[in-house]
Amino acid sequence: MCGIVGVLGTHEVAPILVESLRRLEYRGYDSAGIATVNEGRLDRRRAVGKLVNLSDLLVHEPLAGKSGIGHTRWATHGAPSEVNAHPHKAGPVAVVHNGIIENYKALRDELRAMGAAFETETDTETVALLTQYYIAEGLNRVEAAEKTLSRLEGAFALVFLFDGEDDLLIAARKGSPLAIGHGDGEVYVGSDAIALAPLTDKITYLEEGDRAILTRGSVDIRDAEGRRANRPAKTVSIDAARVDKSGYKHFMAKEIWEQPTVLANALDAYLDGDRIDLPEGLDFAQSERLTLVACGTAYFACLTAKYWFETLAGLPVETDIASEFRYREPPIPAATTALFVSQSGETADTLAALRYCRDKADRILSVVNVAESSIARESDLALPIHAGVEIGVASTKAFTCQLNVLYLLALKAAVDRGRMSPDALAAALAELRGLPGLFNAALDRDPTIAEAARAVAETRDVLFLGRGLMYPLAHEGALKLKEISYIHAEAYASGELKHGPIALIDKSVPVVVMAPKDALFDKTVSNMQEVMARGGQVLLITDAAGAEAAGGDVWKTVILPEAAPQLTPLLYALPAQLLAYHAAVAKGTDVDQPRNLAKSVTVE
Ligand code: F6R
Repeated sequence: MCGIVGVLGTHEVAPILVESLRRLEYRGYDSAGIATVNEGRLDRRRAVGKLVNLSDLLVHEPLAGKSGIGHTRWATHGAPSEVNAHPHKAGPVAVVHNGIIENYKALRDELRAMGAAFETETDTETVALLTQYYIAEGLNRVEAAEKTLSRLEGAFALVFLFDGEDDLLIAARKGSPLAIGHGDGEVYVGSDAIALAPLTDKITYLEEGDRAILTRGSVDIRDAEGRRANRPAKTVSIDAARVDKSGYKHFMAKEIWEQPTVLANALDAYLDGDRIDLPEGLDFAQSERLTLVACGTAYFACLTAKYWFETLAGLPVETDIASEFRYREPPIPAATTALFVSQSGETADTLAALRYCRDKADRILSVVNVAESSIARESDLALPIHAGVEIGVASTKAFTCQLNVLYLLALKAAVDRGRMSPDALAAALAELRGLPGLFNAALDRDPTIAEAARAVAETRDVLFLGRGLMYPLAHEGALKLKEISYIHAEAYASGELKHGPIALIDKSVPVVVMAPKDALFDKTVSNMQEVMARGGQVLLITDAAGAEAAGGDVWKTVILPEAAPQLTPLLYALPAQLLAYHAAVAKGTDVDQPRNLAKSVTVE
C-alpha cells in the first residue's frame, strides 16, 4: 500500500525523504514522489517505477528545502503514471495520501461545478483542490485542511504541505495508520515506525480520527471531536540494522533462512518450562465457539488452527476470510471468542471484521506481528508472534510464527478444557522446542528444492494437493508460488481431485503433493497414483518413511525430517516457501516487491 513520509528538518530534506521512502518500499508501490518547501516555494518531483527513477530525476532536477513530504504510490484510482503519482498539488497545497476517499466522485462534481480543472484520475487530487478552494475563500492553512478533512469519507492517512510555510505539516488519520516521530529540533511523520527508524525511535501513534498540526517546536494533536488529545510518545525498538538483507540477495531469502532462530526466540517468549506463558485470565474452559478471521496467508494460518483447536481441544471453530465475514453479517453467539490474525495488524478488512465483533463476541483476541498496530490496540488481548520486521511482501517467517502462537493457544485450550494432561502438554512442548532444529534440517534440502523449482519455473500451471493439516498448507504453497513467480497455482484437498480438478492433469502440470507419512498418507498416495496414471509429474514433499512407501514413480521427492504430526504444517511451510522463492528467482521476477502486491493492505 502507499507509503507516506513527512519531515520538518534542519538539513536538506530531499535525500532524507527518499531514504525514508526506501524503507517503505516493502509495502509495494508503482511510483514515487516528493515535495519540498524552499525559501517559501513549494515544488515537487515524481517518477513512475522504482525509487531509483525518482533519485535519478533528483540528480538532474534537484529539490532544495528543509521541509517536505514524500510518497510511494500503490495505484487504486488511475494507472501508475507520473501525473497520478503523489504528492498532488493544487495552488499552494500539496498532499500525500494512503487509503481511499470514497466520496471523491461527489467531491469532483462539486469542484467541477466551481470551475476546478483536474489533472489526474486520482481520488487524492480532490483533497488538494478542496483545500486550495477553502484557502481561496479566506481560511488559513490549518482551517482549510480541517474543513477539507471534515468533508472526506473513507479510509485515509493524509499529510499536507503548504507553499509559503516551511514550518508546518498537517497530518490526519482515519482508517490508515500514521506515526509521528520526535527528533532534536525536527519532527517527522510516516506510515510506520520503520520509515522513521534512522531518524528517531520516539514515536507517537495517531489514533482513529486524529489530526496533528506539526511544527519543528510543537506537536498539536486533536481527536475526532477537535479536542486536544494527549497521545503518549513511545520508544520503539525497530533499529535501522534489522531492516537490511544481511548479505542475502532478497529479504524473502533472509526471512526464510532466519526461521530457525526466529522460531526459537518466539518459543522463548512463550514457554516457561512445562508451562505456556500466556496472560492470566486467558481461559478457554467456558468457550463454546471460536471464530478465526484473517486474509491471505494469515487466513491459511487460521485454517490450519481450526484442525488443531477442533482435534486437540474439541472446540468448534468457524474460519472466514475477513472481506467476506465483515459483510455477511454472521450471527455471533455469546461465549464466542473471536480471534483475528494479521502480520501487519493494519489490514482494512480484518480490522473491520474485528469491529463487527466488538460488541457481539465474548472477547476479542488477536495474533499480530506489529504490537502497536490498530488490530492489536483494538483487541482485548493481542498476542505478538515475535517474528521481527518482515519486509518481503510474501509472508514467510510471519506465517510460521502465526502458526506457532495458534498452536500454543490450541494446546492451552486443550488443557483448559480437560482434554490434555500435564504430561501430554510437556511432551507437546518438548516436540515444539525441537522444531527449530528440524527447520534447519529442512533448509538443508534447499538444493533439491531449488532444482525442482527451476523446472517448475518453466511451467504455466501448478497444482498443490494436501489432506488434513496439509490442506491449508497446500493453499499457502499455491499462494506463495503465484504471488512471487506469477505462475498460476491452485490448491485442492487431495480428496477433491476426482470431483473436477483431475481434468487439469497432464504432463505439463506439475503437482506438488505435501504428505508426511501420517494416518492419511495411504489415501494421498492413491490420489498421487491417479495423477501419475494421467501423465502428471508429482513433486512429493514427505519424510523418509513416506518416500519409501510412495515408490519410485514420482518425478521428484523432497525428504524432510520426521516431525510430530501436529507440527508438520510449520515444517512443511519451509519447502513450500523455498519452492516459490527459487521459481521466482529462476523467472527473474521482483521477489521482494512482486507486481501489484502490497505488504500492508489498508484499503478494501
Ligand atoms: C501473502 C501475504 C498476504 C497477507 C495478507 C494479510 O504472502 O503476505 O496474503 O497474508 O495480505 O496481511 P496481514 O497478515 O498483514 O493482515
